[in-house]
Amino acid sequence: MAGGAHFDGGTTKDYPGKLTGFVLLTCIVAATGGLIFGYDLGISGGVTSMNPFLKKFFPSVYRKETADTSTNQYCKFDSQLLTAFTSSLYLAALVASFFASYLTRKMGRKFSMLAGGIIFFAGAALNGGAKDVGMLIAGRILLGIGVGFANQSVPVYLSEMAPARYRGMLNMSFQLMITIGILIANLVNFGTNKIAGGWGWRVSLALAAIPAAIVTVGSLFLPDTPNSLIDRGHDDAALNMLRRIRGTNDVEEEYKDLVVASNESKKIKHPWANILKRKYRAQLTVAIMIPFFQQLTGMNVIMFYAPVLFKTVGFGANASLYSAVIIGVVNVIATFVSIATVDRFGRRTLFLEGGTQMFICQLIVGTMIAIKFGTTGEADIPKWYAILLVLIICVYVAGFAWSWGPLGWLVPSEIFPLEIRSAGQAITVSVNMFFTFGIAQAFLAMLCHLKFGLFYFFAVWVFIMNGFIYYLLPETKNVPIEDMAIVWKKHSFWGRFIDDDQDNNGKPPHTPEV
Ligand code: BGC
Repeated sequence: MAGGAHFDGGTTKDYPGKLTGFVLLTCIVAATGGLIFGYDLGISGGVTSMNPFLKKFFPSVYRKETADTSTNQYCKFDSQLLTAFTSSLYLAALVASFFASYLTRKMGRKFSMLAGGIIFFAGAALNGGAKDVGMLIAGRILLGIGVGFANQSVPVYLSEMAPARYRGMLNMSFQLMITIGILIANLVNFGTNKIAGGWGWRVSLALAAIPAAIVTVGSLFLPDTPNSLIDRGHDDAALNMLRRIRGTNDVEEEYKDLVVASNESKKIKHPWANILKRKYRAQLTVAIMIPFFQQLTGMNVIMFYAPVLFKTVGFGANASLYSAVIIGVVNVIATFVSIATVDRFGRRTLFLEGGTQMFICQLIVGTMIAIKFGTTGEADIPKWYAILLVLIICVYVAGFAWSWGPLGWLVPSEIFPLEIRSAGQAITVSVNMFFTFGIAQAFLAMLCHLKFGLFYFFAVWVFIMNGFIYYLLPETKNVPIEDMAIVWKKHSFWGRFIDDDQDNNGKPPHTPEV
């Protein structure tokens, strides 16, 4: 089944047009929506480890932490209260993405981005000026709502704006901004941690206003996507926009296909009921499994806990922070590899290569920790050993950064037909946020119980997800977004869920040119 199980997407329509400077610019501006998510992913871990922050807002946590003298490195002090504070953002984003899906469909993609930027800005202001835990949590909830709106609308915006041949590349600018946001946050924490007087955490939290301002102002200037304009009855504006972003007047064919997709979309009053239909089983499954698997790679364990992990293997506080920054740099650079290759090699190749790379690294890391720390969790390990461990973690991070990181956002945003695209993306965001929350919440307890086996645990999941991609994910590179139904229809497993008269938005199926 394997070889024939996927469809080579390179053989559907190829609309005229090129990669214009205009589309490139709009996509880069829209992608800045990733900065707010990235900044938050990167800033929280550092801030919650700053003593003045703990003393002010979580004094009981601070007292327990300083009193903790256990030498078992697997079971260091862990506070559910503190992780719950960090995770509240992801829960807020989860809920917000459903509201965003409604607005994105009814008011346009740009509207949701703007709303996301403004709400995130308000959250940053509340957090930076926080006087008590109440303000801190209210701020985090606003930040979460902002992230929910941005992550729901930006990937869809990018996938709709891009010409099919460059969709992977342009969509991945979102992930690039996420990784840049994480890196900037790591560097900011590095600097603010040194501020004497104990108010560095305020600077870290308040600086979130900068990416928020970039997104807010940027989205004011963005045009909406032709798909969304047609869907909301602005046909002329859509045609003009399509000409402008494709750099040619010869857009009739693509325009007609967008109108057909929109007519289908208008018949659907209840996207949530529709998405459950049998013919969308494939897309629904992928929209749920991809973000679930993305979090089960274990990447966020590294993102959230790298400094803790490095301290555990014997680095001093500064060396641990440096190592975290190195990982951040690797994360950014490796994302470019994906951007450069995704529309040539395809999504499947990157998924499978990245997955294999992560699998091997996890086995090595688990084994290296097992050899030194055994089950007691006590060890004194040589410097070269710790450095080798950091290197292997870098190879792991690179594997994620050119596969599950960017593809985790790209693939769900490009597989749905227009009428349920917004709803589908909300599902992806909420599953992603739910498991980001779950992993953040459970990691320290899992490390304490599973010990080095935690790395084997994630390795098993990566093995399973490679199987999922190999057998169940068709190739979507170069396939026009409103033609995607053909890909599912042709798939040897998913095809059986789609009846002949209901595929491709009700249009007669195109015959691939081969
Ligand atoms: C994921 C995040 C992760 C980040 C790392 C994103 O695609 O959704 O959970 O922290 O990549 O770069």
